[in-house]
Amino acid sequence: MKGIILAGGKGTRLYPLTQSVSKQLMPIYDKPMIYYPLATLIEAGIHEILIITTPEDLTLFKNLLGDGSRVGCKFSYVSQPEANGIAQAFILGEKFIQNDPVALILGDNLFYGTNFIQQLKKYSSTDGGMIFASKVTDPERYGIVLFDENQKAVEIEEKPKNPKSSYAVPGIYFYDETVVDKAKQLKPSKRGELEITDLNQLYMNEQRLHVEVLDPAIAWLDTGTVQSLMDASQFVQVIQSRQGILIGSIEAAAYKSGAIDKEQLSELATELEKTVYGTFLKSLI
Ligand code: TTP
Repeated sequence: MKGIILAGGKGTRLYPLTQSVSKQLMPIYDKPMIYYPLATLIEAGIHEILIITTPEDLTLFKNLLGDGSRVGCKFSYVSQPEANGIAQAFILGEKFIQNDPVALILGDNLFYGTNFIQQLKKYSSTDGGMIFASKVTDPERYGIVLFDENQKAVEIEEKPKNPKSSYAVPGIYFYDETVVDKAKQLKPSKRGELEITDLNQLYMNEQRLHVEVLDPAIAWLDTGTVQSLMDASQFVQVIQSRQGILIGSIEAAAYKSGAIDKEQLSELATELEKTVYGTFLKSLI
């Protein structure tokens, strides 16, 4: 399975922070935001990854992440000139995806929980589409899933004014090789975007959308506002210092998923030896 990180957008809710720099390069405690979704994909064993961002930010991401060989992965890049919607990722990524299944993760979504990676690994060869649903207190901000009495997902709605359910769809999605054709069938919504909800609806119409309720023990944070950015930093800081682990480390994820070996990890740890981050990496060996 291949992976795509969507890290464009305007980041208007974080202005002036993101007026000249991508939201996904903002720090979440001790690393750039994009490290977290990237580490999630890598740890799940997805090592061929396309990074989509704005034309202005492309060079910054390349400077940060390179071609991925440092962490035993293969990173490539495509720009999205306008924020025309999340589902556009599959049209921009057509050449990269070819005929393979693909996972998409949003660059401002952070997931944490020991079982989460195990849960993701199950979907590496998905038939149809697979999304999660997670209970939230502010469902009107998200795509919402409605379940029937048998816990079967029956309806999916984008940012409803009067939500009929409090299950929101987090920013990680798994699709089979028909995703590019489906994305090409979509028409822009009223707000002018190719909506991921409409793409999910196409899979649902074919009875091939699997919706899995996210284990409540898994933390899902999206970091699009100043408050949530601060909350995410504090969350990472508390867990890391309390438990002596690193959250969102691409190097640790690469090691755990077999993309690099002990010697390679040791070299990467040495590069970062002046930081607590580097000390954590050393402790893994
Ligand atoms: P949003 O948070 O919906 O949009 P945004 O990042 O532009 O922020 P704001 O609302 O403050 O202006 O986007 C969610 C994620 O998806 C985020 O990581 C950016 C990414 N994204 C794109 O890369 N391209 C797009 O066309 C859209 C809609 C989102």
